[in-house]
Amino acid sequence: MSNKKETRLTAKDKRMIRKERQKMTSIAWDAVQKANEIDNPLSKFPAFTKFTCKNNDSVILSSHLVTNLDKEILEQIFHLERTNMKKFYEECEWGWHEKKKRSEMFDERARYLIVKTVDNKLVAFSHYRFDLDFDIEVLYCYELQLSSEIRRQGLGKFMLQILELIAFSNRMKKVTLTVLKNNSAALEFFKTMNYKIDETSPVDSALDTYDYVIMSKINPRLNV
Ligand SMILES: CC(C)(COP(=O)(O)OP(=O)(O)OC[C@H]1O[C@@H](n2cnc3c(N)ncnc32)[C@H](O)[C@@H]1OP(=O)(O)O)[C@@H](O)C(=O)NCCC(=O)NCCS
Repeated sequence: MSNKKETRLTAKDKRMIRKERQKMTSIAWDAVQKANEIDNPLSKFPAFTKFTCKNNDSVILSSHLVTNLDKEILEQIFHLERTNMKKFYEECEWGWHEKKKRSEMFDERARYLIVKTVDNKLVAFSHYRFDLDFDIEVLYCYELQLSSEIRRQGLGKFMLQILELIAFSNRMKKVTLTVLKNNSAALEFFKTMNYKIDETSPVDSALDTYDYVIMSKINPRLNV
């Protein structure tokens, strides 16, 4: 005999589940707000403000609220973004929309991990935010961009590890990011860094296909 009746949720069960979900979202939102109170999450980790590339070049790292960056550096950041990504966007359905990209990148919630050479030249950046993603507290890595001359020197790995350190030390449950499927080098890089397809990543079907995947790394100290 079917035991369907026994597993059906009562109105009381549903209310309890709803309440539990609301409680979880409120805890998650508190964590995001708390993290967002910190202007410079890298200040706790001074050892991570310098890096020596595989070719022995030294670089300096710093983290900033977008609102504390001047126009000149913001334009350098945007230039690097366009140089690296325009072609990938144009190849897919998204297209390259400069105004839209600027408003995303210069949104007041944006934070930047910035990498400069010792003679003050911008060579890499990451745009990241603390946010709720499907009700889960995450560090969302919007961009990780290195100029071509500094790639394969271990810097991308170091930057991503810093984002993980910042995320997990501020009780975020995941580091989450979006990768275009046509960017095979980036897909390989994130796989090497143990990023997995996130449960929220859209799945292709006969009706819909997607040009991107959502990848994430879960905070090993917390259960999602
Ligand atoms: C993707 C990117 C961030 C990687 O940073 P990086 O500093 O070049 O990578 P690292 O030197 O730290 O590489 C670490 C490991 O990742 C893997 N990897 C990195 N780049 C790779 C590539 N192009 N192809 C295959 N594997 C790669 C390798 O296993 C590498 O280790 P190894 O060099 O010892 O073999 C950088 O190449 C970049 O900025 N690309 C252009 C912008 C971009 O695509 N950003 C990602 C948008 S989602």
